[in-house]
Amino acid sequence: MLLICAWPWVRWVIPGLSAGLASEGYPWPVFSPRGPSVRELAMQALSSVEGGYDLLAPKFDHTPFRTPDGVLHATAGALRPLGPFGRGLDVCCGTGAGMRVLRSLCQGRIMGVDFSTGMLAQASRAHPGAGWVRADVRALPFAGAFDLAVSFGALGHLLPAERPALFAGVYRALRPGGLFAFPVAAPQPITSGGYWALLGFDLAMRVRNALWRPPFVMYYRTCPLHAVRNDLTASGFAVTTVPLTALGRREDGSPRYRLVLARRAAGGEREPGNGRAGRGHEGLPG
Ligand SMILES: C[S@@+](CC[C@H](N)C(=O)[O-])C[C@H]1O[C@@H](n2cnc3c(N)ncnc32)[C@H](O)[C@@H]1O
Repeated sequence: MLLICAWPWVRWVIPGLSAGLASEGYPWPVFSPRGPSVRELAMQALSSVEGGYDLLAPKFDHTPFRTPDGVLHATAGALRPLGPFGRGLDVCCGTGAGMRVLRSLCQGRIMGVDFSTGMLAQASRAHPGAGWVRADVRALPFAGAFDLAVSFGALGHLLPAERPALFAGVYRALRPGGLFAFPVAAPQPITSGGYWALLGFDLAMRVRNALWRPPFVMYYRTCPLHAVRNDLTASGFAVTTVPLTALGRREDGSPRYRLVLARRAAGGEREPGNGRAGRGHEGLPG
């Protein structure tokens, strides 16, 4: 019950998301008429990540867990000067929020990958013409297929030890010179309510996962920018960031959100130590 109550609030206090929610008039309360009931959320919280999203899928777009339009717009705006791009991949696509970013930037085919059948079913209804692959992103089945990969709201579902497999898979999925981009929130100051909300959420999750099987991996504080940057670099990416100033600034003037830009070497340069280049396919029919 603690988790159910904390989730919408935790999402709300994440810097930048609240700005996106407010500016787009997104119906953020979980218990809105079209959102999931308390019972449905409880069932989801007691499931695995995959099973939980299968259950939530029909109502996911009426929860605060879908990435808000403000974040999507800011990301697309930051990526546009770096394009145009050819083929695009949304990693952990869910119901397809990031597909709208890809559609506005990519001239080639766009594709979403997720391991929840329920989420993919919703996404394919919302984005006819796109391609869909059901796969665990810790073992992405692509090689040299995409010019741009994006991901929204998913890193917290992976344990830190699992990130290298994800990043190696995205590196492999990109063409030489391809770009992997995703927004990250600035850390909360320890004096803010948000800091303690996220800490409390993660602690509650650890208790839940110690007591209940299957685990539901979702932690907010396991992917700080420096750790993510190190893992991307170890996978072979050249990493930079740009501020997403449209999502606001903290009191000290620093941006609430940054967009991580991880570029695969243009060719003949460095290959990731833990990658397995040459495996996989270019995607499945949509
Ligand atoms: C919070 S939702 C975000 C969905 C969408 N990107 C958005 O921003 O609205 C997280 C998504 O990640 C997917 N996911 C989590 N872990 C995954 C994994 N290991 N492999 C594939 N998909 C995963 C879930 O099924 C879910 O659809």
